[in-house]
Amino acid sequence: MANIFVVGDGAIGLLYSHYLSQQHKVTLLTKHAIDEPRFYQQANAPKQTINCQLTNLTQLSEHGQVDVIIFTVKAYQVATAFRQLKPFLSAQCQLILSHNGMGNVDEINSELTKQQGLYFLTTRLAGYKDTPFSVLHTGIGSSILGDCNQQAKTQLAEVKNLLNAIPELTTTNNIQQLRFEKLLVNIAINPLSALHNVKNGALTAPQFSGIILNILNEACTVANKLGINVRLAEALANAYQVMSDTKNNYSSMHQDVAHNRITEIDAMCGYICRKGNQLGINTPHNQSLLDAIRHKKSAI
Ligand code: PAF
Repeated sequence: MANIFVVGDGAIGLLYSHYLSQQHKVTLLTKHAIDEPRFYQQANAPKQTINCQLTNLTQLSEHGQVDVIIFTVKAYQVATAFRQLKPFLSAQCQLILSHNGMGNVDEINSELTKQQGLYFLTTRLAGYKDTPFSVLHTGIGSSILGDCNQQAKTQLAEVKNLLNAIPELTTTNNIQQLRFEKLLVNIAINPLSALHNVKNGALTAPQFSGIILNILNEACTVANKLGINVRLAEALANAYQVMSDTKNNYSSMHQDVAHNRITEIDAMCGYICRKGNQLGINTPHNQSLLDAIRHKKSAI
């Protein structure tokens, strides 16, 4: 039994906690009430209490040595969360990032010991927080764990075994490719769904096809220049497939805008614009979505 920490009690944090607590001691680190149990629910089934301990930064030292820590906070929160938690991590702790968009893998890697593996976990699990303390599990799907540093390469199979309670979990030695493919889906769906106040399925309408083509074309050009093997036709097919698979969902960015929260646009279109700038590739369509989301006040 491992000592696993999950950072963040958003929908994904609660889903991972639900599954992992069936095999391990799981501690959920939250900024919110630590005296309220957290719940997991599947459609038409009763709510179950998630069998995890709850803690916050002030009580962290009481929870013993952490074997694995999974950051489920947003890309823009990872660096701060990591620095706050770093003093509590053992020299052998294995760290896993799991968020939308591109973030701070290089920055975090530069602060790790040689034995601390860094991994990225992409997931198609989907959930919705129907109350601040409970998650409704809305989407079943596979999850993929990949190595982001040398130590993680050597421990990938071992860490995957620890996380086996997560459904349909597999590993890859090319997580960067998968992250880019997911980024392309997010770029096609998230900003437009938030700007136009629509569910994902509405983006298959012809009025959006031009802008989707243009943003993905720019993003694929940037990806190819970075040595990532993505093709525009496949990126479009993937994006339209996810729109139809999740047609009744509001994207995470739609929900962030609706609740006046900071969005992940900097880790999505912002990332494409920054890389495009460094590589001499023009990215006007990603820039216009970036500007539009940055300036959007919640009108939803
Ligand atoms: O961010 C999201 O909402 C999801 O990653 C996705 C795939 C766009 C589905 O809603």
